Amino acid sequence: MAPPNESEWNELRSRARNATQRSYAPYSGVRVGAAGLSDNGTVVEGSNIENASYGLTLCAECSLVSDLVRTGGGRLVAISIVAGDHEPISPCGRCRQVLYEHGGTELLLDAGEGLPPRRLAELLPDAFGPEDLPTRKDS
Ligand code: THU
Repeated sequence: MAPPNESEWNELRSRARNATQRSYAPYSGVRVGAAGLSDNGTVVEGSNIENASYGLTLCAECSLVSDLVRTGGGRLVAISIVAGDHEPISPCGRCRQVLYEHGGTELLLDAGEGLPPRRLAELLPDAFGPEDLPTRKDS
């Protein structure tokens, strides 16, 4: 699937910004929203959902992947992740791995208007993924 053009990136940005409004972040006060394009043409969204037991917080990217699988799946092609200030936020380590599972090395991450997107391979080099499992079984 072709990478998004500028107007498609703008659509993803706008949907990610709107998704920050549906975040539940009473503890950190950092609202995060994400919007991703699947190779089946659908756009999925996510928002961070915090918890009084802090470590159980769900990042916006996890919430987006839940939306992806729940609504029919497909591979993620491009994603915009923004904080409440509407600027791109860098995905945490755990989310890089979660995104890798559903988008792989070529997933494009929005770096902001006028800036070239970044490939997930750049953010998570030498990733461990599903393709590694069959070759590493020893029983
Ligand atoms: N957060 C995300 O939703 N995604 C990230 O990749 C980084 C952090 C959220 C988790 C928490 O609710 C808040 O940002 C502050 O860490």
